[in-house]
Amino acid sequence: IDEETAVVRPPVVTIMGHVDHGKTTLLDSIRHTKVTAGEAGGITQHIGAYQVTHDGKKITFLDTPGHAAFTTMRARGAEITDITVLVVAADDGVMPQTIEAIHHARAAKVPIIVAVNKIDKENANPDHVMQELSEQGLIPEDWGGDTIFVKLSAKKGTGIDDLLEMILLVAEMEECKANPEKKARGAVIEAQLDKGKGPIATLLVQNGSLHIGDPIVVGNTYGRVRAMVNDVGRRVKKATPSTPVEITGLNNVPHAGDQFAAFDDEKKARQIGEVRAERALITERKQTTNKVSLDDLF
Ligand code: GTP
Ligand code: NA
Ligand code: MG
Repeated sequence: IDEETAVVRPPVVTIMGHVDHGKTTLLDSIRHTKVTAGEAGGITQHIGAYQVTHDGKKITFLDTPGHAAFTTMRARGAEITDITVLVVAADDGVMPQTIEAIHHARAAKVPIIVAVNKIDKENANPDHVMQELSEQGLIPEDWGGDTIFVKLSAKKGTGIDDLLEMILLVAEMEECKANPEKKARGAVIEAQLDKGKGPIATLLVQNGSLHIGDPIVVGNTYGRVRAMVNDVGRRVKKATPSTPVEITGLNNVPHAGDQFAAFDDEKKARQIGEVRAERALITERKQTTNKVSLDDLF
């Protein structure tokens, strides 16, 4: 990041938490309250990430299961999350995957906002959740600590605005910035082969801006951005920092967590892409060879 030309960009948020504590319900609830139904495709989600606007400011939510987002992405070197929302059901409390999520976030040095969910339930006990999390070092602001807790019901849609407000507050403290004028760089959120369109990749632009026609290297693949679609299924010509887009035009299917870079020169992108593909092939062959020789021992 070039500090001189850096401007504020939307924070990128992932949701983590124990099984059935309400991660999917929360993501749905945020999308339903905040995405304008008038958009092309309405509130139907098209790609594994979406943006909402709160108080005139954008927030990007990644829809990949939080744990996968951290493990697969980080294994491939991508650091894409600015803030993690830790969902804890108020009727269930801290569970093994809650603690695992805290460890992932800490290892990645990503700030945690706690969403105490299911407060509509009769047996909800938010104080108990606060107590249990304090024992994990997440001490609520109300108790003299510095962790933000938001009580909500993802199902009823209460407390959603408070959560978005807190996300924007933390984003401001984290100084999420990027240089929109640069060539785009970022990471692959997901990718697959489409029978008609060929390889399709959902990219998160982390710095710079991606344009239609840009030569691009994505992991061990390369190409030119042929078409670009945003989170509500609308064709776009440009994707600015923190924007998720689905692109076509690659020669092959990249992996989730791969990094990408756009170039001025198509020849250069092609050269880099070919070298990377060749290297990946050699590594793959070596691994296969090793496997065979190991098998021979037995
Ligand atoms: P996994 O993806 O399987 O780990 O679960 P999850 O964390 O995505 O939980 P999910 O959103 O699927 O919710 C699990 C169950 O809890 C569903 O039956 C939801 O309807 C319910 N649930 C989620 N949020 C709330 C809430 O705020 N209140 C109540 N009463 N139920 C909720
Ligand atoms: Na579930
Ligand atoms: Mg879920």
